[in-house]
Amino acid sequence: MTKTLASRNSPLIGSYRPEGDKSLSHRALLFAALAEGESTIRRFLIGGVTRAMLRCLQALGVEWQLDEAEHILKVKGVGLKGFKTPDAPLDCGNSATTFRLLAGAIAGAGVTCVLDGSEGLRKRPMGRIIEPLRMLGADIESPDAHAPLTFKPASMGSLNYVLPIASAQVKSCLLLAALSGNAPTAILEPGPSRDHTERMLSAMGARIKNFSEGYGAVVLPQSESLRPLNTELAGDISSAAFLMVAATLLPGSDFLLEKVGVNFTRTGIVDALRAMGADITFENRTEMAGEPVADIRVRAATSLHGIAIQGDLVVRMIDEFPALMIAAAYANGETVVRDAAELRTKESDRIAIMAANLKLLGVAIDELSDGFRIYGKGNIPGGATVAAHGDHRVAMSMALASLRAEAPITIESFEMLNESFPDFPKVLNL
Ligand code: S3P
Repeated sequence: MTKTLASRNSPLIGSYRPEGDKSLSHRALLFAALAEGESTIRRFLIGGVTRAMLRCLQALGVEWQLDEAEHILKVKGVGLKGFKTPDAPLDCGNSATTFRLLAGAIAGAGVTCVLDGSEGLRKRPMGRIIEPLRMLGADIESPDAHAPLTFKPASMGSLNYVLPIASAQVKSCLLLAALSGNAPTAILEPGPSRDHTERMLSAMGARIKNFSEGYGAVVLPQSESLRPLNTELAGDISSAAFLMVAATLLPGSDFLLEKVGVNFTRTGIVDALRAMGADITFENRTEMAGEPVADIRVRAATSLHGIAIQGDLVVRMIDEFPALMIAAAYANGETVVRDAAELRTKESDRIAIMAANLKLLGVAIDELSDGFRIYGKGNIPGGATVAAHGDHRVAMSMALASLRAEAPITIESFEMLNESFPDFPKVLNL
């Protein structure tokens, strides 16, 4: 679907409660499948990426029921070794989280199965899970370290492994496989990737802990069955981030994002936007199912200026750069991002694709091997056609670019946003 968006002359006023977080939805569904007994998950995110996980688990013999109107998912757990051998390759669609987390769950589950996905997913690096999973004992056939991967039954041992890059998907994959291991497994990582797996599995009875110094976790073999979940998921801060930027940019805005997950490993975008001059406050802090949540109030910024982002902050906002880049274009001065080469391995090469799109819109940007430099001038000329390039967050960021653009922006494949945030056009009245 191609969408042409002119600038919006009205502020963003009111409130919105985002659906359950994408990372939490994937984990709750998969971990519920690995538990024994029936789980109930409320505010489950229904989007392309979670439908991929639902489809794959069904093919592995897991029964679930989804109330699409109420976003309530019920899952009948089959246990850590309860998957049945599927009849055909599992199609993970565009979802790397589905692929990498399922890989960990399948490695020690005693089934033969092929994990595959879309053309886009087949381009994403899988060597990062294949190598350590093999060290743990997995039997994986892979001609070139990309999907499809063939798993055969194998016994898991144990592992001490230092991740070369901070990645919650790789960490979670290994922790899941290690649940079937024969001795403790320790995964160290160079930065604070999201720790939802550790929190949720531990609440389900797994013996898993984050290190008190440094980053990473250690897990013990799981001798007892995992307990089922009865939970309501925190709202998705990665979806909320697009609305934070919208309210920051639109003069006169005052918008409340309700019950959003504010786990420290995910709030980098709030720190970055605040440092640029955004007016963002947390209200009603509480906890939902072991995750910190808050209502996030965003008022229009009086002025925005460029900043430098690097190191751990990059890890804590790894999915938010497309949104951040629009704020940077509307800011005054230079925004420099380094240590962010991982952006090249996401749903698209987000450095190259966003740079190409922003240039088409008249924004000055230099691509760096591990980041970018945006020369913000307080405006976006617009008046061009840009594409989503198979990336939901690129599609939504281009809509943000249109909010105050001088001329309309046409976005090809705008429907990509349905992967993670189907409500986005409704909330912004697009
Ligand atoms: C995710 C981890 C991140 C993130 C992705 C979801 C997760 O990927 O980009 O959208 O749910 O674990 P990496 O772990 O590869 O950085």
